[in-house]
Amino acid sequence: MEFFNNRLSWALPVFLASLCLLLLNNNGVQASHNVYMHYQSLSAVNVKQVHRTGFHFQPKKHWINGSFFQISISLSATSSSFLYFTHSIFFNLAILLNLSPLFILTGPMYYKGVYHLFYQYNPKGAVWGNIVWAHSVSTDLINWIPLEPAIYPSKPFDQYGCWSGSATILPGNKPIILYTGIVDPKPAQTQVQNYAVPANYSDPYLREWIKPDNNPLVVAKNGENSTAFRDPTTAWWVNGHWRILVGSRRKHRGMAYLYRSRDFMKWTKAKHPLHSSAKTGMWECPDFFPVSKQDATGLDTSVVGENVKHVLKVSLDVTRFEYYTLGTYFPKIDRYVPDNTSVDGWAGLRYDYGNFYASKTFFDAGKNRRILWGWANESDTADEDVQKGWAGIQLIPRSLWLDTSGKQLLQWPIEELETLRGEKVQLNNVKLNKGDYTEVKGIPAAQADVEVTFSFPSLDKVEPFDPSWESIDAQKLCSLKGSTVQGGVGPFGLLTLASEKLEEYTPVFFRIFKAQDKHRVLMCSDATTSSLKDGLYKPSYAGYVDVDLADKKLSLRSLIDHSVVESFGAGGKTVISSRVYPTLAVFDDAHLYAFNNGTETVTVETLDAWSMKKPLMN
Ligand code: FRU
Repeated sequence: MEFFNNRLSWALPVFLASLCLLLLNNNGVQASHNVYMHYQSLSAVNVKQVHRTGFHFQPKKHWINGSFFQISISLSATSSSFLYFTHSIFFNLAILLNLSPLFILTGPMYYKGVYHLFYQYNPKGAVWGNIVWAHSVSTDLINWIPLEPAIYPSKPFDQYGCWSGSATILPGNKPIILYTGIVDPKPAQTQVQNYAVPANYSDPYLREWIKPDNNPLVVAKNGENSTAFRDPTTAWWVNGHWRILVGSRRKHRGMAYLYRSRDFMKWTKAKHPLHSSAKTGMWECPDFFPVSKQDATGLDTSVVGENVKHVLKVSLDVTRFEYYTLGTYFPKIDRYVPDNTSVDGWAGLRYDYGNFYASKTFFDAGKNRRILWGWANESDTADEDVQKGWAGIQLIPRSLWLDTSGKQLLQWPIEELETLRGEKVQLNNVKLNKGDYTEVKGIPAAQADVEVTFSFPSLDKVEPFDPSWESIDAQKLCSLKGSTVQGGVGPFGLLTLASEKLEEYTPVFFRIFKAQDKHRVLMCSDATTSSLKDGLYKPSYAGYVDVDLADKKLSLRSLIDHSVVESFGAGGKTVISSRVYPTLAVFDDAHLYAFNNGTETVTVETLDAWSMKKPLMN
């Protein structure tokens, strides 16, 4: 362990905190999208391979960002054109017959599923700008075929930008996209909500989309801030009306405005927002959906009732972190009330405590699951992105469901990912005393999937949890108690993307504390030592794991892919993704170790590691 080098990075958190205060005190237009004019249309000549991912979603080159939306559609023989001749006839019919999307999607009418990923993309360069809706399709969410962009600026209602949005599958298996159009240039950037429909429903790839002339459908006209008014959600249908949310802010209060419509064309703003929260700034990419209280089965977005809880997720533009609450949705009064165990704002629950933003979920009717998909930005600079010729990846799609405690969600990489697993190596029953580390040999450690279960004989040696740490967040605590700082039970875990002599490594680990009446488990994914390169953002990402330690075991799964380490603690209770840029630990020179730096001996009960194949990727 003598190679460990515990470098604390204070400057960046302090700078970010000051930035937050500055933004919260700024009533003007939020500068959420940095514009590098000189780079915006600088097409990549060479795409650097060294940190490109092997099995995470990315286009061939250039910039991608969230939010995305994904639809899994089925093309039904019975959705024949005579019945649904025009949209308006169809909508009226649907309302008359009281059809709900649930009815349509759950029947035997589902076949020939295709997943669509639409993502914010700069076709001209490796920084944000010139944003279009790029489009890829897949039958397994792992192998992707690129298509031409589906939506791009071309009309007065979107000529300065086609920003994020969502899809809804209308009765009859008819997808419709709602997206934000920008109608004037910076600095105003007035935002309106538009719709687009497929030009040809019988094209399984839905290559071409039409933006009818009755756009925009929703504009800010009742006191909403038109320059912070975007990212419409998937619609849900209850009591004879569709509903959508539009993200916004009123001064510093984050808002999820609610709109209702009978026909999807004429939208009326509800008197109250669905939810809002003081001092959280602009809410981007809201997402609102039900989860089952009974099991892990996913639900269509329109399901309401006794057996479900609802999730409201928002992406906080001020810090570029997301949080979610669990709560109850009252359809009659259209109010959402978070549970008292769910906190609004920065202290709230997060899907991922690392590099993860602008996520969306969708209901996959083919496999009856809800899938969460998030975007991971780079942690290097715009200059470096231009040199690399690309920026941004999608993390691995995750199944998402309610924990039996009812207090948090659980996540796990979709099962299809396992089709990429190649050679396998195993460790069993390896004891790690304080300061020990053991190498996992036999697979290329730069592109791997690792599942490990650690056990410890007792909790007698755990460190006390200093009450003053209640006022700092997990990330701060991890920066104080890194992998090289000896503990009682923990730190133990994996050293991923490590160079042979540990000049570079990204440790992913647990550390157990004893607070007054309970144990607290900290999980860290610490980029501090990830690269010898300076000038990178190297945060000590961390979250607490609400786990029962009765069996004295903790499990971890890490998806390691050249410049990303995506880790699932305790079966998906806490998830952390880190973007890192090793200089030595690249390709075949990357190593993987299990380690323990606590006084209590830890056993690697089982460790399975697989090499990961490259899927078809755009
Ligand atoms: C999320 C976001 C959205 C916006 C889009 C613009 O990262 O900022 O709020 O619609 O990106 O590309």
